[in-house]
Amino acid sequence: MSVFSVQLQMRFEIEKEIQQVIQMRDQWLQHAQLVPNQLVEMERKQSQGWFLEFVKDEDLVGIEENKKWLTGWLYSEEPNSTVITISGMGGLGKSTLVTNVYEPEKVNFPAHAWIVVSQIYSVDALLRNLLRKIDTVRPPTPTGIDKMDEHDLKEEIKKQLQNRKCLIVLDDVWEQQVYFQIHDAFQNLQANRILITTWKDHVGALASSTRHLELQPLARHDAFELFCRRAFYNKKGHECPMEFKEMATSIVDRCHGLPLAIVTIGSLLSSRPKMETWRHTYNQLQSELSKSDHVRAILNLSYHDLSGDLRNCFLYCSLFPEDYAMSRESLVRMWVAEGFVLGKGKNTPEDVAEGNLMELIHRNMLEAFEYDELGRVNTCKMHDIMRELALSVVKEEKFGSANDYGEMIQMDKDVRRLSLCGWKANTIIGVRFLICHTPC
Ligand SMILES: Nc1ncnc2c1ncn2[C@@H]1O[C@H](COP(=O)(O)OP(=O)(O)OP(=O)(O)O)[C@@H](O)[C@H]1O
Ligand SMILES: [Mg+2]
Repeated sequence: MSVFSVQLQMRFEIEKEIQQVIQMRDQWLQHAQLVPNQLVEMERKQSQGWFLEFVKDEDLVGIEENKKWLTGWLYSEEPNSTVITISGMGGLGKSTLVTNVYEPEKVNFPAHAWIVVSQIYSVDALLRNLLRKIDTVRPPTPTGIDKMDEHDLKEEIKKQLQNRKCLIVLDDVWEQQVYFQIHDAFQNLQANRILITTWKDHVGALASSTRHLELQPLARHDAFELFCRRAFYNKKGHECPMEFKEMATSIVDRCHGLPLAIVTIGSLLSSRPKMETWRHTYNQLQSELSKSDHVRAILNLSYHDLSGDLRNCFLYCSLFPEDYAMSRESLVRMWVAEGFVLGKGKNTPEDVAEGNLMELIHRNMLEAFEYDELGRVNTCKMHDIMRELALSVVKEEKFGSANDYGEMIQMDKDVRRLSLCGWKANTIIGVRFLICHTPC
């Protein structure tokens, strides 16, 4: 056989394989458009057009008293008031509460910054992040901070602060040492305030007992109100119709006053006007509850309710680093490029992808983070508990592998996507098809 005919044969084989892959993809995508619960999908389709007005609504309940305490502590002249801690389990509303104190009050602190710490962190990256984020009227941030070491970064932060009182939020701290490792970057001013949110009691103990707020679950009536605001967002006064009251109360009781669980299940049920589907969801919830704790049961339920294309879009978001602000435009392009969405009727794949993004936000599976001047979502984030759930599915299904700060030791060779955050260039030699993020 001549060289030419061997090449021809190889080309033929490759073309055949490509055709097979395309066929498999089309079959799979067609299948993916089928929704697990057809009844639910019909109702979902009936309620198009709710996106924009809904996602901008803050809908906070039961925060006034805590907000008053925290605001008072910001300006208290009592000694030992610098560190303020807010503790409680995931999804209880710590970050939401602190945002609602930080945003209106930060103007009274000439230097302020909000830093998300998380479980895996590096001191250098934290300080660098702090330096970039400190909002002061001081000289612009110096260039070359990427190359500075811990000592230089601290010196630079001190220079930027220059005896100005600061308000720093350290969100989601897991270890006391985070604070001890960075606190000497701040001058010892009596008026400085460091607000720390945490799941951990020992981190909560960084503050004096009079400056530690142990957040409690929502009271029953607040929990019910929050649920109704989500489930009946399109009804006048968000009122729960008589015939749904008993079922709504049972569902809310299963949430144990946890806002994340309440808003997620409320959003899930909001597109279902029929009692029959509510009962169906309630039964599913009961069975999920027998397998895992109440938050995860509810989040699992939300995930399993997604159609195939939405599941892919959702899982894809977990490959971004924790607390990463994902841009709407990039997500739309990436989902289309991945083949997760197809055009429908007059709608281009981009339109459909955008609709998917809004649906995930509506379902509380992504959170709108920034809006553009037209009021459209500009960036969104994934809640850490939601990401944790998504990553467990991602791993199980070999959808991808997310590796923050170089923790990956060995990767399953069948994994289809690889995301690395905070890795040094020379440690990723030989890796192909990757999504590489700079640390935020
Ligand atoms: N008081 C509230 N009223 C209405 N919604 C709330 C309230 N508190 C929290 N939420 C909603 O609950 C969800 C979880 O809240 P949040 O992220 O603040 O919890 P968290 O305690 O910071 O969780 P984690 O420890 O995992 O970071 C958010 O979607 C938020 O919008
Ligand atoms: Mg939080």
